[in-house]
Amino acid sequence: MMFPEYRPRRIRRTESLRAMVRETDIALSHLIYPLFVVPGKAVKQPIGAMPGCYHLSVDKLIEEAKEIRDLGIPGIILFGIPEKKDARGSEAWARNGIVQKAVSALKKKVPGLLVITDVCLCEYTSHGHCGLIAKQEVENDPTLELLAKTALSHARAGADMVAPSDMMDGRVGAIRDALDEHDFDHIPIMSYAVKYASAFYGPFREAADSAPQFGDRRSYQMDPANAREALREATLDMQEGADILMVKPALPYLDIIHLLRQEFPLPIAAYQVSGEYSMIKAAGEKGWIDAQRVMKESLLSIRRAGADVILTYFAKEIAKSV
Ligand code: PBG
Repeated sequence: MMFPEYRPRRIRRTESLRAMVRETDIALSHLIYPLFVVPGKAVKQPIGAMPGCYHLSVDKLIEEAKEIRDLGIPGIILFGIPEKKDARGSEAWARNGIVQKAVSALKKKVPGLLVITDVCLCEYTSHGHCGLIAKQEVENDPTLELLAKTALSHARAGADMVAPSDMMDGRVGAIRDALDEHDFDHIPIMSYAVKYASAFYGPFREAADSAPQFGDRRSYQMDPANAREALREATLDMQEGADILMVKPALPYLDIIHLLRQEFPLPIAAYQVSGEYSMIKAAGEKGWIDAQRVMKESLLSIRRAGADVILTYFAKEIAKSV
């Protein structure tokens, strides 16, 4: 294929030609919308660093979830902000905890919406780390039991899928065992398999009040410099029984999404995180970029890199724009 015999511009001449040969799309069926649930009634509090996102009490969450379902978005992922925190994060697995209450209300009142829960301790611990602390270190194996208890409590409340985001070694296996032992062998695990220690989570930590009170998460989340380590993490999670492998964040890690797509037979998810969202929003508000077009281009790029599923705070805006 050589110029002038081959002219690539010929099939770009009209929108119908371009659409006909387009390789990738952002259908709503691939999107998951993250939501933050808080205690109380009639709460719909804007999250400062994430314009368009809210802290919602269960009653408002139900209204929001109905709107999301009716817009054609298939699923949500829930994060809970508890009334009180303690060193063990015990509200994470409380039968009447905030996520457990939200899930059972959603399953009753919003049939047809896929309800996924984030499984982690950092929103529930007073120190803000994702596991138990001993001598200023995050303890791996004693944390596994608490994560498994948390996932099981979400399944009992009616969650359709659980998504562990803590990055402890062995947690997918521990959660799979706990679910299987209690007749939840039909509940899939979407593991945050490849989760980097990223500065792009900044706005989320304000939203979830989950910033670590000392140190950082670099002893359990991955080093942004590493790609082969992603293969090791994803291999372990697949062997332990993960059903979907997630990469997080998304846009700065398109190479990793592409790598996992090529190396693993499981569906791949990508999380376009809070910082990715807020940067686009902020530059758009300043008039420096066309935020609508950048939103679509970034999601399209994440799909093109190989993500089957995208978790994105833009899900509602996309649904309204198509
Ligand atoms: C909890 C968790 C985090 C995010 C999802 N689950 C924060 C973190 O690891 O500090 C980040 C999501 C986002 O930034 O949108 N461990």
